[in-house]
Amino acid sequence: MWQPKIILQNDKLLPYEQASVHPMSLGMTYATAVFEGLRAYRNPTTGDFKIFRFAEHFKRLLLGMKVMRFDHSLTEDGMREALSGLIRANEPDDDVYIRLLVYIEALGLMAQTGPVGYTAAASPRERPKFADTGMSLGVSSWSRLSDNASPPRIKATANYHNARLTQLQAKSDGYDGALMLTPSGKVSEAPIACFFMVREGKLITPNIGSNILESVTRDTIITLYEEATGQAVVQREVDRSELYFADEAFLCGTGQEIIPVVKIDRLPVGDGAIGPITKKMQKIYFDAVRELTPDTHGWLTKV
Ligand SMILES: Cc1ncc(COP(=O)(O)O)c(C=O)c1O
Repeated sequence: MWQPKIILQNDKLLPYEQASVHPMSLGMTYATAVFEGLRAYRNPTTGDFKIFRFAEHFKRLLLGMKVMRFDHSLTEDGMREALSGLIRANEPDDDVYIRLLVYIEALGLMAQTGPVGYTAAASPRERPKFADTGMSLGVSSWSRLSDNASPPRIKATANYHNARLTQLQAKSDGYDGALMLTPSGKVSEAPIACFFMVREGKLITPNIGSNILESVTRDTIITLYEEATGQAVVQREVDRSELYFADEAFLCGTGQEIIPVVKIDRLPVGDGAIGPITKKMQKIYFDAVRELTPDTHGWLTKV
C-alpha cells in the first residue's frame, strides 16, 4: 500500500513529517478549527483519480468557517488546485483519503478571527472493517451536542470531543460503535457517520434538526435512492425504541462509506443479516464514486 510522503500546509508542499502548528495557537488551545474528510477514488479502468463531491465538501467548510467567524481568503478554485497537487505529489496507486483542516493560527486570546492557516494530508484508506460483516451499535448514554451549544451541522473539530467520548464508551461496553440520542431522546447519528434504517420497505433517516452533521454522503444516498426507486427517503425524528423495529440499518459517511448495522443494543436488526436495501445502496454508491455509472450530477472532480 502506498504511503503519504508529502503534506500541504498554507499552499506549500512539504515533506510529511515537517508540518507544524504552534501549540499556543487558537486552533490547538480552543479547538478553533474546522475540517473535511474527502476521498479521491481511482477509476479501475482508466487509473484516473477523481475527488468525490469536492464542491459540496468545500461549501460545508466555508459555512463552518462562517459560523466560527474565521477571517480567511480560501477559494474553491485555489483549494481544488492545491488538493489536486497534493494527491499528485504523493503518487498514490490506490484510493486516497484527504483530511483538510483549517484553523486559527493566532497565538493568544480566544476571540481572534485570524490569521487562518490550513493543512491537508493525503493517505491510503482501506475499506472499513465492518463493510462486509456489519457492525453492532450501542445507544450511548452521552447525548449528542445541540445546535445552540456547539452546532453539530458543521464539522468543527471541537464537536469530536462529544463523538470521542461516545466511541470510547461503546468500545468499553463491547460494541463496535455507538449511536447518539439528542438531549430530547431522539436518534441523532453515530460519532463519525449518519444513520439510516429501513422499516416496512421505507428508507428513513433522522432529519437535520436531530443534531446531525450536514453530511455529504447522507445527501448522496438520499439522491441515489430516490433516483433508483422513485420513492422519497423519509427524513424525520426517530425514537429510540423504533430502532428495535428496524428491518435493516446502516451508517454512512465519506470515510465509512456504507456500513451495515446488524445489531443495536444487542438486539438483531431485522433477522440480523445484511438486508437487500443496504446491499443495493452499497452497490449504487460504489458505482457512483468510482464512476462505474455515468456522473450525471457532476460529483467527480478530476485530479
Ligand atoms: C459526526 C459525523 N456525522 C456524519 C458524517 C458523514 O459526513 P460526510 O458524509 O460529509 O462525510 C461524519 C463524517 O466524518 C461525521 O463525522
